Amino acid sequence: IASHLLAYYVTELQHDQVQNVDKYLYHMRLSEENLMDVSRRFRREMDKGLGRDTNLTASVKMLPTFVRSTPDGTESGDFLALDLGGTNFRILLVKVSGNGKQNVEMENQIYVIPETLMRGSGTELFDHITECLANFMEKMGIKEKKLPLGFTFSFPCRQTKLDESFLVSWTKGFRAGGVEGKDVVGLLRKAIKKRGDFDIDIVAVINDTVGTMMTCGYDDHHCEIGLIVGTGTNACYMEEMRNLELVEGDEGRMCVNMEWGAFGDDGSLEDLRTDFDREIDAGSLNPGKQLFEKMISGMYMGELVRIILVKMAREGLVFQGHTTPDLLVTGHFKTSYVSDIESQKDKEGLVCAEQVLRGLGLDPSAEDCVAVQRVCEIVSTRAAHLCAATLAAVLRQIRDNKAAERLRTTIGVDGSVYKNHPQFARRLHKMVRLLVPDCDVRFLRSEDGSGKGAAMVTAVAHRLAEQHAE
Ligand code: GLC
Repeated sequence: IASHLLAYYVTELQHDQVQNVDKYLYHMRLSEENLMDVSRRFRREMDKGLGRDTNLTASVKMLPTFVRSTPDGTESGDFLALDLGGTNFRILLVKVSGNGKQNVEMENQIYVIPETLMRGSGTELFDHITECLANFMEKMGIKEKKLPLGFTFSFPCRQTKLDESFLVSWTKGFRAGGVEGKDVVGLLRKAIKKRGDFDIDIVAVINDTVGTMMTCGYDDHHCEIGLIVGTGTNACYMEEMRNLELVEGDEGRMCVNMEWGAFGDDGSLEDLRTDFDREIDAGSLNPGKQLFEKMISGMYMGELVRIILVKMAREGLVFQGHTTPDLLVTGHFKTSYVSDIESQKDKEGLVCAEQVLRGLGLDPSAEDCVAVQRVCEIVSTRAAHLCAATLAAVLRQIRDNKAAERLRTTIGVDGSVYKNHPQFARRLHKMVRLLVPDCDVRFLRSEDGSGKGAAMVTAVAHRLAEQHAE
């Protein structure tokens, strides 16, 4: 009976602790009404980005990608792809054989980009990329061939055509000097020429969202949105040419890279941002930029939790008011911990919480573990719900474009947060369905979307070029 009572006592305490955290993080718990409002604001930002006169000052840039058609299954050949801007830098060799039913095989290799190169000089960064490429081609025995290459470069770029792409600004962990404002295809070609030991035909530059949409579009022809929730967050979708005032022509559609991570950079989310969000921003590589992304993506999620825990400890709400040197170090609470701690299997999450906290030199009580789990839940739920709000705006835009009463559509998704967090996807899906009940949305996980997508875009462009030449 005594142990029974004790268990009761503990859960009672834990319940109180959850309520304390909920109260403390009140501003991070967004209601459906809040989210609807965010969705409406984002729709206005989309319009601003699309408009000829408003684009220049818009924070959500709505960048044209010059990707107009999805694969039709007749593409074939060997293609190279570079994938820069996610967790890893990857090089892929993709073999596409399209005789009726498409078949894609690929080899790929991950290369490390040291932090010093991510934040050093652009020349060094591009020299390193080409060195990895030379190494890969040698290994695959294709160094003598001049293969077509697609470059997935997952940063905001102003494109003028498929193979010309000017970096607007670095985001996430990159800050290599002398690249902003430059055409990254030009930089890559220059680095290859300087080596002189191989040649390559750079056909296309794409964003990872576009790659994700393209690979999913291969299996599901309703796919017209690509979403990434990983190191960064962003989405693309197929927009009507007549709405794309920055591009000539009114016929058909073109994929738009929204760069929604920059939502709020003009101050439009100030009422929702908390002191924690401001602290993250102040300590980041790009203060004042990508404010929406910083509330959501994997590069910041663990750090947000850490900042909250430090504040709560200082106010005596957890860890008996103690902090440790380890807890005070930026980056020491990894985003993967948030996923582990939110595991719903029995008490697995709480056990993880205890391990993580001990790893940071703390001596947590049962209530501390419960509190930390609750903080993780609130931070990751806000992230999923904010993504749902912006997605809902995109879905309404597409539905209005089609003048359809109900929209049936597919969203291709990739990214470490979406794929690895145990609750993120479910919460996102649920909120999207609440916010836009009149859309039938299918979420399709993309496998290797960003890399394979570059090869797909390249394959389509290659096919079209050959048809032209005939
Ligand atoms: C950042 C980049 C964007 C990319 C996203 C996901 O937001 O600016 O281009 O799509 O991260 O990787």
